[in-house]
Amino acid sequence: MKQFHPLRVAAKTPESKDAVRIALEVPGELRDEFTFLPGQHLPIQIERDGKHVRRTYSICSPEGCWPLEIGVRVQPGGLFSEFAANELQVGDTLEVMPPTGRFHLESERPEGRFHIGFAAGSGITPILSIAASVLEGEKTSRFALFYGNRRQNTTMFIEDLFALKNRFPKRFQVHFVFSQEEQEFEISGGRIDADKVTELYEHFCRSVEPDAAWVCGPDTMIGSVTGALEDLGMDAGTIRSERFGVPRKGNGKQATRTSPGTADQAQVTVVMDGHKKHFEMPREGSNVVDAAAECGIELPYSCKGGVCATCRTHLRSGEVEMATNHALEPWEVEKGFVLACQSTPLTDEIVLDYDKS
Ligand code: FES
Repeated sequence: MKQFHPLRVAAKTPESKDAVRIALEVPGELRDEFTFLPGQHLPIQIERDGKHVRRTYSICSPEGCWPLEIGVRVQPGGLFSEFAANELQVGDTLEVMPPTGRFHLESERPEGRFHIGFAAGSGITPILSIAASVLEGEKTSRFALFYGNRRQNTTMFIEDLFALKNRFPKRFQVHFVFSQEEQEFEISGGRIDADKVTELYEHFCRSVEPDAAWVCGPDTMIGSVTGALEDLGMDAGTIRSERFGVPRKGNGKQATRTSPGTADQAQVTVVMDGHKKHFEMPREGSNVVDAAAECGIELPYSCKGGVCATCRTHLRSGEVEMATNHALEPWEVEKGFVLACQSTPLTDEIVLDYDKS
């Protein structure tokens, strides 16, 4: 099981009006474990009022770069983001789990591709890493980024994007869209919704069909952007998306309830690092992660919202119902992977294998 490690804050700088950029130093002996694929994120844990608070932040650094950088948008009342903005100092340590997440570039990639990216707000964080890594690592690939924000002064990583544009003028295009600032050209105003995607695509992708699309933003934006790209002819398999924030209830892919068991309690066995642990949990009103914690067994998790996949595990036997799933691909569900934070047992016994990947 992946463990949290203390990483030192090497730098902290303002990143737009309401966001900070934090650089985390990874010591040499942890570099292998913290090697990431562009697009992945880091679960981070702090303690507030005696309780653990976990949040997941995407890495914005390009592939192979140290220290690891994250961008944190400050949410009013946000336990972690306000702490990061107001209290965290350079030299402090944060408890950080190695990179995880399924929204990422592959390590082996073909050349000569045309990638497009749609980001809204802090959804730029993984897309920045992906775009920079494509431009750096795929010498003949191109990237066109469409980036929506309310205003310029809330736009994160603007300097990084201009620096990329200067380094790769022929292979990188960035187009900003602002919803609360008047723009000279209509195409640059408004929100990134289905109509805007169609307008941008028809304007910028007329001559070459994109090979891959990367979409990151709030829940509502993901559906409209991916739907519009499919309507424009892109194959669903070439569109990758990641949502941030807590999704609206009922928007995820839900598992089907089948073969209900008989008892109120279910026996759960977890296999982790070659060891087995057993506990009992109610078959309603809880989930595997919380029920395990109540029995003193810590299982991996971060968002507990069905988004980050930190809790992904393999259902070796039995059946579960997932309340929601915004993280697993259909093939993973078909192969028996589940999100423990969203799972309740449907059968009297279930076995979860955390060692299978
Ligand atoms: S902890 Fe994030 S999906 Fe389960």
